[in-house]
Amino acid sequence: MPSALPLGDPAPADGMLPASASDGWADRDLGIYVHVPFCRVRCGYCDFNTYTADEVRGVKQSDYAGQALVELDLAQRVLGGMARPVSTVFFGGGTPTLLPAAQLAQLLAGVRDRFGLAPDAEVTTEANPDSVDAAALATLAEAGFTRVSFGMQSAVPHVLATLDRTHDPDRIPLAVEWARAAGLQVSLDLIYGTPGESLDDWAASLELALAQRPDHLSAYALIVEPGTRLHRDIARGRIPAPDDDLQADMYDLADERLSAGGLAWYEVSNWATDAAHRSRHNLAYWTGQDWWGVGPGAHSHVGGVRWWNVKHPAAYAERIGAGVSPAAGRETLDDDTRRLERILLGTRIADGLPIEALEQNGRSAVAGLIADGLVDGPGAIGGAIVLTRRGRLLADAVVRTLTAG
Ligand SMILES: C[S@@+](CC[C@H](N)C(=O)[O-])C[C@H]1O[C@@H](n2cnc3c(N)ncnc32)[C@H](O)[C@@H]1O
Ligand code: SF4
Repeated sequence: MPSALPLGDPAPADGMLPASASDGWADRDLGIYVHVPFCRVRCGYCDFNTYTADEVRGVKQSDYAGQALVELDLAQRVLGGMARPVSTVFFGGGTPTLLPAAQLAQLLAGVRDRFGLAPDAEVTTEANPDSVDAAALATLAEAGFTRVSFGMQSAVPHVLATLDRTHDPDRIPLAVEWARAAGLQVSLDLIYGTPGESLDDWAASLELALAQRPDHLSAYALIVEPGTRLHRDIARGRIPAPDDDLQADMYDLADERLSAGGLAWYEVSNWATDAAHRSRHNLAYWTGQDWWGVGPGAHSHVGGVRWWNVKHPAAYAERIGAGVSPAAGRETLDDDTRRLERILLGTRIADGLPIEALEQNGRSAVAGLIADGLVDGPGAIGGAIVLTRRGRLLADAVVRTLTAG
């Protein structure tokens, strides 16, 4: 079951933004996120805003691209003088590749027609390994997609089964080969800490992932989200909960093996071959750029104004059909919140958090964090502080220390 939306303030029906959103806009990149809220089956651990055909009776997947194009019209109108060539486009889900490749191509053309694409634009789609074939990937590459991010999750059949994943591990090399043949960069998503997964299982998944020579890799600790089948199964004692210590060992192993295999970490859960292959779209979220999120439940941010769309595809279709903004609520970030977010996000990335972003008490805490081996950095004098591997595991505690009043 997808989780609930934040509350926030009401959003206007015409989607217009307060004047403050345009302050300094020319210095920020613009990204577009397109949410595709459909999956063939729901994985028992997942609380993303996505629906199987049974869960959205009356909503036609084939109508979705047309609705998303209408929201892109709204984006163009609302951004007005702030509209500019888009630096990154990301199709996420759900399973974007459940839509025919021609529809994804049509949506990308829709972005290009309304905003233009920067010459070096990064254009990504997520894909389940069993929802693509060679022809679809070639169509996407021809349309201007530059990357594909495959939800590999694991190489081990019993782990994939616990996660309810439908693909065979043999499908991974095949899907990667098709993507490469089409000229697409490849990213792989892995999950670690699934109940029943041993350190050796995890090592096998890392090995198969590295054997594909991906340009980018994300490794996520399994989160047991309330409302999911996994959560219920654990609560009823049907399967054990993930073990924190084992997950920490798995993170250490991941960073060790990935670094040795030519992938350098650049965000708590992300590694890339080099700076050019980092996910620029995700970096834009972490560095406070502007992005417009299209689709049910999608979140947007422009110049310190954040808003989010109605969650259900039927409610979204209704708003779009009525010619009103699909935004359900919004908030304007105050200076304190923006500073806190800068610290929260800045500590997650390898480029580090500039010491200047901290208040005096945070600066005073840095020497202690360095002594505890949680951050590397120049101390409270200048420059940036960067989380160590141990610090990345305890990132929340580090942020609490840096922001304590
Ligand atoms: C929207 S999904 C990816 C696209 C595609 N639907 C798939 O699953 O292959 C994004 C990624 O989030 C991660 N993810 C989803 N739920 C998670 C959870 N509860 N804990 C950790 N990672 C999770 C998975 O690695 C997944 O690949
Ligand atoms: S396929 Fe991806 S988005 Fe869909 S339910 Fe599974 S993890 Fe979630």
